[in-house]
Amino acid sequence: MNCISIKNLTKSYGTTKAVDGIDLSVESGQVFGFLGPNGAGKSTTIKLLTTLIPPSHGSLDILGIDAIKNPLEIRHKIGVVLQQPSYEPTLSVEKSLEKYGMMWNVPKDERKKRAEQLIADFDLAEIRKKKNEDLSIGQRRRVQVAREFMHDMDLLFLDEPTVGLDPSARRKLLDYLKNKVKTGLTIFYTTHVLTEAEYLCDEIAIIDKGRILTVDTPDSLKAKFGKEKTIKIHISTREEKLSDLLSGIKDCQIELNSGTNITIHSAESELVLQKILKTLNENNIEIENLSAVPTNLEEIFLKMVEDNASHS
Ligand SMILES: Nc1ncnc2c1ncn2[C@@H]1O[C@H](COP(=O)(O)OP(=O)(O)OP(=O)(O)O)[C@@H](O)[C@H]1O
Ligand SMILES: [Mg+2]
Repeated sequence: MNCISIKNLTKSYGTTKAVDGIDLSVESGQVFGFLGPNGAGKSTTIKLLTTLIPPSHGSLDILGIDAIKNPLEIRHKIGVVLQQPSYEPTLSVEKSLEKYGMMWNVPKDERKKRAEQLIADFDLAEIRKKKNEDLSIGQRRRVQVAREFMHDMDLLFLDEPTVGLDPSARRKLLDYLKNKVKTGLTIFYTTHVLTEAEYLCDEIAIIDKGRILTVDTPDSLKAKFGKEKTIKIHISTREEKLSDLLSGIKDCQIELNSGTNITIHSAESELVLQKILKTLNENNIEIENLSAVPTNLEEIFLKMVEDNASHS
């Protein structure tokens, strides 16, 4: 079943199209990653999908409900952690959880049970009596995410939930989320951390300037670009004619940095490398260092966003 289904979703602010005609379907029971650079439209999309703001155009169906006609019906079934920090400064961690449970009409006994479980799962025991305003940024973020789990939901939206978390807290949160998905939750997750998306997400959409560039699984994204390698060559001395010397080599993209670093992206890396080595050799250019690695998801992402910028 699709739990998110949107067509031509658009949100304009004056002349800015924050979200520019997005079509998307997200199946239930997975983590769907929404990836894009600053200002791409990720948070705006989350606000539209959670009915916090109305679209300028388009239709959106959340959990089989028309979100424009019945926004309130949807809000009971979803959870959302926005990008902006939100907390009550003088409330303690345990009281914040308690209050959230009350807001969602969770019965008292169940509230206590859940709060204790979340205090354990999110490593909040040491700070349970502390006021939110006295917490570190990462601790506060953990509380903000934890409290959302005080209530049951079918679909959870997380807008960069791991910002400010240390590597171990980050990994714990990702594993916690993975487990929740196994019990039937669907998660819509934004990030610009590619490794995180790779670890967590079943599908990834890459978004830039309000438009979706591609939707795929992390594996097929890598397979699609998998032949591509990044070759880095460091030469000992600056060579003025380097750019001209290498200009005839096909099937690759060459960047020269400070005259001594050559970076090559190519799907025909072996052939291209041979040609470059030959050229360098013929011109008596000495190589200090050379490496060739498969292009990772991070670079695929950067490349897609760069290509998008040069085409628009
Ligand atoms: N309330 C608003 N009024 C005017 N412009 C807005 C408003 N909200 C967002 N925008 C613009 O819409 C675009 C998309 O913003 P959005 O916050 O969705 O990006 P984002 O992908 O979440 O970025 P980040 O990674 O920095 O969080 C930006 O150009 C932003 O300036
Ligand atoms: Mg954002």
